Amino acid sequence: MITMATTSVDDTRALAAGIAGLAEPGDLIVLAGDLGTGKTAFAQGFAQGLGVEEPVTSPAFVLVRTYEGRLPMVHLDVYRLDHMQELVDLGISELLDEGAVTLVEWGDAVAPALPADFLEVRLESAEAPDDRVLTVRSVGPGWPPRADALRRALAPWTVA
Ligand SMILES: Nc1ncnc2c1ncn2[C@@H]1O[C@H](COP(=O)(O)OP(=O)(O)O)[C@@H](O)[C@H]1O
Ligand SMILES: [Mg+2]
Repeated sequence: MITMATTSVDDTRALAAGIAGLAEPGDLIVLAGDLGTGKTAFAQGFAQGLGVEEPVTSPAFVLVRTYEGRLPMVHLDVYRLDHMQELVDLGISELLDEGAVTLVEWGDAVAPALPADFLEVRLESAEAPDDRVLTVRSVGPGWPPRADALRRALAPWTVA
């Protein structure tokens, strides 16, 4: 697990762009954390890192949005119960695209329905209003081969 600190929304976006640089087709990123901690901001930075030019907006009112970048980016938000139900009904495998990288806000809430191979990013608020603490951990076989590269990419934000 890697623990990081950011001090602004742009800082969180830059961190996310750093992770996006390591993304591979089929990756799943689970975004965890309370409302307003920066899950959508993270997705925006991640998209920038993939070279997505279109603005990334919160998918709070639709289940899924797709963007074109170096890799296609699929962005889901399962906060709403009907989204969660839709996800379960459709089956996550229908939404996960092997050629794309998928980011799921509130993904920890549907973890049992997700494949057990993902990077989890948890965002938490801290003392100052614009401070956030982020923790990254990997589950499954996909990310361990990239652990060193991930540590290097996240070094600017890593706290002891
Ligand atoms: N360090 C930070 N990282 C991310 N967002 C931050 C930070 N500091 C302030 N913010 C603000 O917090 C809010 C995060 O909102 P959003 O990304 O929509 O959260 P979520 O998707 O988790 O509900 C934005 O208004 C953003 O400008
Ligand atoms: Mg959001």
